[in-house]
Amino acid sequence: MEIRVQHGAIQNVPSDLIVVNLFQGVQTLGGATGAVDAALGGAIREVIAAGDFQGKAEQVVVLYTRGAIPARRVMVVGLGPQERFDGDVVRRVAAVTAREARKLGARSYHTIAHGAGAGALSPEDAAQAVVEGTLLGAYRFTELKADRADVEPDLEALTLVEFNSASLEAVRRGAEVGRIVGEATCYARDLVNRPGNYCTPTVLANSARAMAEAVGLTVRVLGEGEMAELGMGALLGVAQGSHEPATFTILEHNAERHDLPAYVVVGKGITFDSGGISIKPSDGMERMKDDMSGAAATLGAMRAVAALELPLRVVGLVPATENLPGSRAYKPGDVLTAMTGRTIEVISTDAEGRLILADALGYAGRYRPRAVVDLATLTGACVVALGHVTAGLMGTDEALLTALRGAADRSGDRVWPLPLYDEYAEQIKSEVADVKNTGGRPAGAITGGMFLKRFAEGYPWAHVDIAGTVWSEETKGYRVKGATGFGVRLIVEWLRGQS
Ligand code: BES
Ligand code: MN
Ligand code: ZN
Repeated sequence: MEIRVQHGAIQNVPSDLIVVNLFQGVQTLGGATGAVDAALGGAIREVIAAGDFQGKAEQVVVLYTRGAIPARRVMVVGLGPQERFDGDVVRRVAAVTAREARKLGARSYHTIAHGAGAGALSPEDAAQAVVEGTLLGAYRFTELKADRADVEPDLEALTLVEFNSASLEAVRRGAEVGRIVGEATCYARDLVNRPGNYCTPTVLANSARAMAEAVGLTVRVLGEGEMAELGMGALLGVAQGSHEPATFTILEHNAERHDLPAYVVVGKGITFDSGGISIKPSDGMERMKDDMSGAAATLGAMRAVAALELPLRVVGLVPATENLPGSRAYKPGDVLTAMTGRTIEVISTDAEGRLILADALGYAGRYRPRAVVDLATLTGACVVALGHVTAGLMGTDEALLTALRGAADRSGDRVWPLPLYDEYAEQIKSEVADVKNTGGRPAGAITGGMFLKRFAEGYPWAHVDIAGTVWSEETKGYRVKGATGFGVRLIVEWLRGQS
C-alpha cells in the first residue's frame, strides 16, 4: 500500500473516500470535521443529532456527498472520550478505517492525521500512528490461498491531507516512520504466519539474507559446522532431532562503526516446536509454527532500524532450528555444553527455547554490547500469568528495563515486569550439570528467565517472554487474526530512544 502526504483542505480533495473524526460527545464540530460538515450543509451534525453516531472509539459512519464536495463518500470515525485518547487509539481507529474502506470497495482514500488538533498529539506522532494503524489493520495473509474468489481487492494508497502548512514537514516525517515500522511489522507477521514447511531454518535464514541485502544490512549465516567450532552445543543438541539443519543468522546495522555503542537483539527461532521426545499433545500443535516469532520480530526490527538509519550499531541474532523427535533427537537426561562452557541437564526437550538462546546469548558477548534484549515465545506459564495482552519482562539492568517499559507504553507492544530474585535459582539446580532446563510448575516464566540469566553474562540484559502476545485469535483494532508481529514496534521504539 502506497503512503502519500499532501497539503490542502480535505473537503476540497477529489477522492473515492475521505475520512474525518469525532471525539465522543462533541456537539460543536471543529477542524476538518467542521469544515466537511459545513460543506455538506450540516450532514454530520444531522447524524449526531439523530443519535446515530456518538463518536465512540472505532465507531464508523459513512455519508454520501451527492456532489456537495469533490469526494464521493465521507467516513466519520469515532475517537472515543477525549480523556482516554492517545496514540494507540489512533492506531486502532486507523486500522478499523482501513478495513471498512476495503469493505466499501475503495481502492484509495484520504484522511487527516487524527489527534494532531484537539487530541494534542504532535503532528509527527499522529501521522505515524495513522500510517502504522492503517498498514497493520489492512494486513492479510493470503499468499497460500490458491482460490482468490473470496479475497477483497487490496487497498492501493492512503493519503494524509494536512491543512496547516507549518505542520506539513512533521506529518511527512511521521508518515515515513509509520510506513517503515508498519511494513516491518507486516514482514514479521508474514514470517510467523507461514507454516513450518514454508519456513524452515534455512528458509528463514534465506529470507533474512534477502531482506538484509534489500535494506543494506550486513548479513552472515552460520551453518552447523561453524556452530560446532564455536561450541554451540545447546543449539546443536536441539537441532539433532530434525533433518533440517540449524541456522544462526547474524545481521548488523553500522557493522563498521565501532565508535558507536552496540545493541544486540536476539530472537528465538524455533520454526516448529513439537516438544521433541517430550512431545506436546497434538491438540492445537499446529500453532507451534509461531515459535519463531522472536526471530521474526528481530528481523522486522532490524529491517526498520536500517530503513530509519538509526545512528547506533545494532546486531540481530537469530538461532533457528526445528524441535522434532527424530531418531537422533536429544533426550531427557542428556547433558549439553553451551558456548559459554556451562553444562545443562535436559529435563524436558520441550524447554528448547532457552537452550538455543543460551548459545545466542553467549555469542552476543562478543560485541561488548551496551545492552542485549531477547524476544522469545518461551513459556506457557507467561501466557497463564499475563494472557494475550502483555508480554513478560525480566532482566538484570534497571535502566534497561525502564527504557523498555517506556517504549512498550509508547508503541502499544505492552510489557510488564516479573522478578528474577536469587531464590528462584534453587528450582533450576542440577545434580549432574551446572543447571537444568526446567524449574517445575511454580513461576515457570521466571525460571525460564533465571535460566537465561546464567548465559547472559557481562552485559546489561533483558528478556521479553512473548508467548502470549504473538498470536491473535480475533481481528480487533490493529491486530488481525493470526500473527501480531509483536516485538518489532517495542524494539524499534526502544532503539529510537537510545539514538
Ligand atoms: N514454545 C513453547 C512455549 C509456548 C507454549 C508458547 C504455549 C506459546 C504457547 C516452549 O518451547 C515450551 O514448550 N515451554 C515449556 C517449558 C516447560 C517444559 C518448562 C512450557 O511452557 O510448557
Ligand atoms: Mn517447547
Ligand atoms: Zn518452544
